[in-house]
Amino acid sequence: MSKFRILMGIKALIVVMTLVLMGCGSDSHDGGKMASHSGGTMHGKNPASTSVPEGRMEAYRLMQQRCFSCHSERPTPERHQQMLAPPMSRVQEHYKPNFNDKASFVNAIVEWLDHPLESRSLMPGAIRKFNIMPAMGYKEVEVRAIAELLYEMDFGSNPKRAGKSMGKLTLNQGGKWKVKPEHWYLMEDLKIKLNRFNSSKVEDYNQLGKDLFSEIKRVLLDPSYKGELLDQLHVFFNGLEGEMHALMQEKDLGKAKQELSSFINKLDAFKDYFKY
Ligand code: HEC
Repeated sequence: MSKFRILMGIKALIVVMTLVLMGCGSDSHDGGKMASHSGGTMHGKNPASTSVPEGRMEAYRLMQQRCFSCHSERPTPERHQQMLAPPMSRVQEHYKPNFNDKASFVNAIVEWLDHPLESRSLMPGAIRKFNIMPAMGYKEVEVRAIAELLYEMDFGSNPKRAGKSMGKLTLNQGGKWKVKPEHWYLMEDLKIKLNRFNSSKVEDYNQLGKDLFSEIKRVLLDPSYKGELLDQLHVFFNGLEGEMHALMQEKDLGKAKQELSSFINKLDAFKDYFKY
């Protein structure tokens, strides 16, 4: 664990040094107006670019210095293997639906940076893939500025992942994967509860999305799951992430109901791949 941290530190340092040597983060993009930055080029073409809101170049520079050593701005498929952390656009994508306003979003990021804790994570898949982010001891004012910018940034279109980064859901040599009985029953109970769920307030559906996320996180973070089984659990729940995020932030009651029923349908496949 501490060995990993040291390794991360060294890797991050190498990246920082490379960036410095390459002259990245120089003041070439000032302007003051909406500035666009490409998140890495793909065969010479930018699929999309990020806009930094007006008056935010200072915070953006901080983000470049403090965060881009490990996080890329946007997904860079050509450098997928060298990634040290999820792209910032993905972090925003996972955090925004979980908070109703900017203040609570910013507080959550500030708390995370002050003290990264698995129980606070909204990206258990990223922890699985990269191990938990080390505490970096940033200054709170800087972190606040970065967190506010992260909320405001428009990363352009985020390429869909569709569970690709984790691979495909498969059986265990023709059989089902064995999970803890309590988790198998948790999924059964969820199905029953969700089928009965009905409300005339869309806010209840938003809350339901958040509750679902916490339940699923408990399964994913169970330390007894390892290796291929854990990968398969991640693949399965990655497939539900779209519906969960949609539920959390849906404003339209009719659509929220549709998203819930699509979630329930997908959840039903759990018993086809997992047993206890
Ligand atoms: C030394 C490398 C490193 C640096 C520097 C770094 N991060 Fe991270 N960060 C990670 C890794 C690895 C993860 C994925 C694992 C995780 O979620 O803990 C991560 C995850 C995150 C998450 C998601 C946490 C969760 O699980 O819910 C947030 C938010 C975040 N980083 C913000 C930042 C911000 C903002 C900065 C700059 C101030 C920053 N990070 C700098 C390595 C780094």
